[in-house]
Amino acid sequence: MLLRPRRDEDLPAVVEVLRAVHAADDYPSRWPDDPAGWMSLPGLHGAWVAVAPTDGAVVGHVALVAPARLPEGPPAGGPGTAEVVRLLVAPDRRRSGVGSLLLAEAVAAARADGLDVDLQVVAGSGAVDVYARLGWVETRRHAASWVGADGVPPQVVRMAPPGRAAAEAAR
Ligand SMILES: CC(C)(COP(=O)(O)OP(=O)(O)OC[C@H]1O[C@@H](n2cnc3c(N)ncnc32)[C@H](O)[C@@H]1OP(=O)(O)O)[C@@H](O)C(=O)NCCC(=O)NCCS
Repeated sequence: MLLRPRRDEDLPAVVEVLRAVHAADDYPSRWPDDPAGWMSLPGLHGAWVAVAPTDGAVVGHVALVAPARLPEGPPAGGPGTAEVVRLLVAPDRRRSGVGSLLLAEAVAAARADGLDVDLQVVAGSGAVDVYARLGWVETRRHAASWVGADGVPPQVVRMAPPGRAAAEAAR
């Protein structure tokens, strides 16, 4: 699998992956009016795509939002914490390590810029198990600052990567 920074011309293919993910997983729970805009949120610190080496198809995506710029609310980790967002893998390309690779890329990029990193995920969703499997740890949970398809803010879990959780426990 090839990972590279996302280019503007990738956005139509990324939106097609998002469409398949929305149909399969209800992520996001409400289909955005402007899906390409939803993938290009303000304060973007970086975005990467996973590309199949055989046919060049975009099969996954992740982005990182700079501290204090996330429309969904500020990162829980403080002013030096970037947030991993818009992690998604095409349903027919799952469970072969693509999500792990994308997540590792975003975390490495944040750390290279001297930033901590965290993420928020809807409580009870399958993605919580994926992050837990990769060693991410719940730091708190709260109501989302956005509403779901039912018009109610879902509970979200904030999670920190293995290194940060261990560092906090040692303090
Ligand atoms: C979350 C997501 C990106 C994971 O992508 P993926 O390519 O399947 O992830 P990986 O193959 O790297 O799997 C990572 C680990 O989680 C495990 N895993 C994957 N899917 C899982 C699931 N549904 N339940 C439990 N564990 C799971 C894998 O077995 C793997 O563990 P292992 O290395 O010990 O075998 C993908 O399921 C997805 O796009 N979900 C919908 C969108 C979404 O919810 N994004 C997160 C928003 S916060």
